[in-house]
Amino acid sequence: MNDFVRVHSRIISKSVPTIQNPDVRRALADRIRYYNELGIYDFYRREGAPIETVEAATEVAPAPEPISQPEMPAKKSITPKPVESVLQILTPNPEQSVTDPIAGLKLIREDIGDCTRCKLHAQGRKQIVFGVGNPHADLMFVGEGPGADEDAQGEPFVGRAGQLLNNMIKAMGIRREDVYIANVVKCRPPGNRTPDRDECDTCGPFLMRQIATIKPKVIVALGAVAAKYMLAINAPMSELRGRFYDFMPTGARASDPNWQGAKLAVTYHPAFLLRDPRQKGEAWKDLQMVMKYLGLKPPPKEPV
Ligand code: URA
Repeated sequence: MNDFVRVHSRIISKSVPTIQNPDVRRALADRIRYYNELGIYDFYRREGAPIETVEAATEVAPAPEPISQPEMPAKKSITPKPVESVLQILTPNPEQSVTDPIAGLKLIREDIGDCTRCKLHAQGRKQIVFGVGNPHADLMFVGEGPGADEDAQGEPFVGRAGQLLNNMIKAMGIRREDVYIANVVKCRPPGNRTPDRDECDTCGPFLMRQIATIKPKVIVALGAVAAKYMLAINAPMSELRGRFYDFMPTGARASDPNWQGAKLAVTYHPAFLLRDPRQKGEAWKDLQMVMKYLGLKPPPKEPV
């Protein structure tokens, strides 16, 4: 080991320089994932080789600014935020070592721990609201973040919006226990405000890992925050709804033989439907599209 320094990515990842260009990072991540799939997990970095040379050699154009999302506050500064080191990205997440989604979700929950990664931890949250439901679910619902009831009970969608979501699920001919329900952020934003962009960026990767572990056939994004975060598209609900998107969570193995990603549909958030019940018919159309794809039939009408 003269010319090469053997690194164990988990141990030294903090000291490794970062690569800012997302295209280069993605390309490197794909390459290392390929090696991981061949069973190679340890990597070597040539001592003294400046990591910037990787970027310089690829001649990739500078990454465009992300599209701004009007419902999330604009970034205050153009200083690029620190990205994870290459080796952090390339290190398989702990749940990738297990095949059972129950075990996988447990590992993700453990990784979140008593999280202090974003400011929400210090803004009155009682507990982390991880997610609930069937770890083998074909269908997953994703909201934006816990409210007061969810914060108190530690479970997503248990308040009034949750009751409506339960009715929507029932109308699809399935039960709440059949699906998996999670949010983009796991801690209650104070006063039920919309989660800030930095909070979504910090917590969202855990949602991506939940999705990659559950491997649902369909994901329903409830409302604009969840839809825009997952799709990274800035468009009004009227344009986001009414179609399926092919969705592969960030960091998931595109070459996974067991899962080629999910179909993602967008519908109105149940809290919005409580405020404007006239839109329920539109939401029902979205759910019918999902039912058709999953082969679900509405339950027979109960005798009066
Ligand atoms: N609204 C959400 O987006 N998520 C919840 O869990 C509850 C309300």
